[in-house]
Amino acid sequence: MGAPSGRGQWSSQLGFVLAAAGSAIGLGNIWRFPYVAGESGGGAFVLVYLICVVLIALPVMLLEISLGRATQRNPVGAFQAVRPGTAWRALGYLALLTGLGILSYYAVIAGKVVAYCVSYAGGMITGSAELYQGTSASTLLYFTLFLVLTILVVAGGVQRGIERWAKVLMPLLLITMFGVIVRGLMLPGALDGVRWFLMPEFAKIDGRVVLSAMAQAFFSLSLGMGAMLTYGSYLSKKDDVLRCGAWVVVFDTGIAILAGLMIFPAVFALSHDPAAGPALIFQVLPGVFAEMAGGGAVAIFFFFLLSVAALTSTVSLLEVVTAYFVDERGWPRAKAVWAVGGATFVVGIPSALDMAGIDPFTAVAVVGQTGFLSIMDFLWGNLSLAFGSFMLCLFGIFVWGLDRASDEIGSTSSVFHRISAVWRFFVRWVCPVSIAVILATLVGL
Ligand code: PHE
Repeated sequence: MGAPSGRGQWSSQLGFVLAAAGSAIGLGNIWRFPYVAGESGGGAFVLVYLICVVLIALPVMLLEISLGRATQRNPVGAFQAVRPGTAWRALGYLALLTGLGILSYYAVIAGKVVAYCVSYAGGMITGSAELYQGTSASTLLYFTLFLVLTILVVAGGVQRGIERWAKVLMPLLLITMFGVIVRGLMLPGALDGVRWFLMPEFAKIDGRVVLSAMAQAFFSLSLGMGAMLTYGSYLSKKDDVLRCGAWVVVFDTGIAILAGLMIFPAVFALSHDPAAGPALIFQVLPGVFAEMAGGGAVAIFFFFLLSVAALTSTVSLLEVVTAYFVDERGWPRAKAVWAVGGATFVVGIPSALDMAGIDPFTAVAVVGQTGFLSIMDFLWGNLSLAFGSFMLCLFGIFVWGLDRASDEIGSTSSVFHRISAVWRFFVRWVCPVSIAVILATLVGL
């Protein structure tokens, strides 16, 4: 299985961890996790989420990274390399479509974050209660801007483009979040929020909570659409897959919990509704910034870093699709990036209009969701990632073989030998069965 020549590789294992953590950490942690937790009852959701991360997502993560490293290819090429000329290739194409689908609305929300940053910088948000509602023109503009930024980074190639950004700016985001958390915790009544977020009320756990928790775990860890596979393909044969995967999970989960600690104390102290939905962080954070000395500057800095965190995620989404056209079709990188970016722009226009309050498809409801952006998020961000992860498990079990997968992971990890049987049990039984059950519920079977 010779890898195509001329592909990039991380300059070090740390480069991979930071870039993969950069893919994982994004709006999923800071925007989506708090609002889904808010809708699903707080502590109960958090508990189920943590269980899903460890029992379902982590095993899938190791499988996905190791398949990438073993084949050194993009999703389509990886399935092809293991079993040429079979229908498994379709799974690769589904991964590409999913990447494009997620990118199309993710970049809209990321554009909104940039808009907040710019509004603070321009002094347009000063008080606490303002929910900045952009016009359709400005929403489209920021969406376009964000896509172009993503395109430019991906065009720069794996190391120059992705790694350099991730290394410098992720730690800064962490520090800023700590600052906001500390200020939020000092607000009167904040501790009610901490309790609500961390103390599970077991009665609140029902099927819906489990569904949203599992889907959120896949989304947040960028699993099921080939992002980790593609990033794993840039790992060298010396790197430790187990350790890399474990670090990504730890970082990603840590940031999600920190995001909750940043939002919920303020939700309670400032009397907001935790179940406010996708607008939650945009409603709550301005209130905290208004309470901070120099809050305007902190807000600018925070929204800037959140934009960067979103950028390292959109970069991974675009990189997956680009890697296919470069590896399999022999396109020059620049051509691939602009073509895919252009297609994403067209697909994203209705989401941008929806975000600006003009939903072109108000009458349409798909699987209980209304609003174009929510429908896209449900189809690609929930359904498709869960389905992709499920199929990846089947591919590992029946085609690639979990022995070979174990060898791939074990070849650089001495610790893995001790847990390899457990891992195989999870990938063979726990992951596919629970995903199948939850998927069946998701589509209402
Ligand atoms: N994990 C990213 C986030 O949490 C989103 C993402 C999903 C990125 C799937 C790539 C693939 O923001």
